[in-house]
Amino acid sequence: MPEIKLENLCKSYGNIEVLHGIDLEMQDAEFTVLVGPSGCGKSTTLRMIAGLETVTKGEIFIDGRPVSKLEPKERDLAMVFQDYALYPHMNVAKNMSFALRLEKRPKKEIQRKVQEVADILGLTDFLHRKPAELSGGQRQRVAMGRALTRDSSTFLFDEPLSNLDAKLRTQMRAELAMMRQRVHKNMIYVTHDQIEAMTLADRIVVMHGGVIQQQGTPEELFKFPKNKFVAGFLGTPPMNFLEATIEESNQQLYLKGQGFMLRCDERATACLRREELLKVLVGIRPCDLIYQPDAPSDSAIDIDVVVSEYIGAQSVLIGDCAGQDVMVELKSDTPIALGERLRFSIDFQAVHLFNMSNDLAIA
Ligand SMILES: Nc1ncnc2c1ncn2[C@@H]1O[C@H](COP(=O)(O)OP(=O)(O)O)[C@@H](O)[C@H]1O
Ligand SMILES: [Mg+2]
Repeated sequence: MPEIKLENLCKSYGNIEVLHGIDLEMQDAEFTVLVGPSGCGKSTTLRMIAGLETVTKGEIFIDGRPVSKLEPKERDLAMVFQDYALYPHMNVAKNMSFALRLEKRPKKEIQRKVQEVADILGLTDFLHRKPAELSGGQRQRVAMGRALTRDSSTFLFDEPLSNLDAKLRTQMRAELAMMRQRVHKNMIYVTHDQIEAMTLADRIVVMHGGVIQQQGTPEELFKFPKNKFVAGFLGTPPMNFLEATIEESNQQLYLKGQGFMLRCDERATACLRREELLKVLVGIRPCDLIYQPDAPSDSAIDIDVVVSEYIGAQSVLIGDCAGQDVMVELKSDTPIALGERLRFSIDFQAVHLFNMSNDLAIA
């Protein structure tokens, strides 16, 4: 399977540059997810790889070969779009074999290929149905099947689940994850949904404003976000950000913000001394705040309960810490009442620090 490499890839529409030098390498048989808010340039990047958009500057390499001047069909890629546009008058088998029939492949081969892919996608019992007789999820699988029968080395997906309702999305996400175990091909998958990205990707590439912010495994990005954008984009509910000044007392550093004063651990102390900053942005994930009424005040924050959203085994509490909103993920059996003040302890190892002048993580 080919390696795909993007080198300083730029795209302009008229005078407006929307992609500003994308450098990216995708290894053999890797599932890469491009994720970022709407308009950040994900589809444009994917469409340039597919050959559906011209390249303004830079180059795309497939197995070391520059391809930006090649026609889409010369690139050995298959793409699944958001609106999966199946042919309504053809049954599932015919839809899936469309490209193969165009290429006039032998009947036996077409039949075998359709059977094989239908097996993988659980469509064997539906081969004779028309799209109108299928559920949304099944149609989505047919669209995917149409790409898989083509035997391309690389599959490109542009938000393939975004037309589905929430429950189906979750189900299809799990199916995709399973399909992925059986199909060892390069996959490049675009989504604005960070949960989809986290669950499916071998490697996540976070984009924002036409620039790659960070790439790595889901775990790397979640644990070690390089900047405030990545930290706030991955994870639900999102990370809390609180401003603090750095204070020193008896050789010990503290982060002093409105309504809290946290004692720094050794690692943070070393970083902060090196950086010589006066202020920092403190990032704390809602799951890292632990309800603990007797926690010492220099490793805890006090929060007044504003809203509690019950969502089953967990609830999300929106609270107020001296005028700042703070979200907390709670076990549902935690006793809380509106207006109450609660104490949450923080293990300092879970605290993220950001330089307020450039939003970069301090590490
Ligand atoms: N054909 C086009 N003409 C002009 N601008 C475009 C065109 N296609 C996309 N853009 C702009 O390029 C940027 C990136 O778009 P896109 O790649 O579709 O974002 P995403 O897929 O991440 O939502 C957006 O600002 C969008 O408005
Ligand atoms: Mg898009």
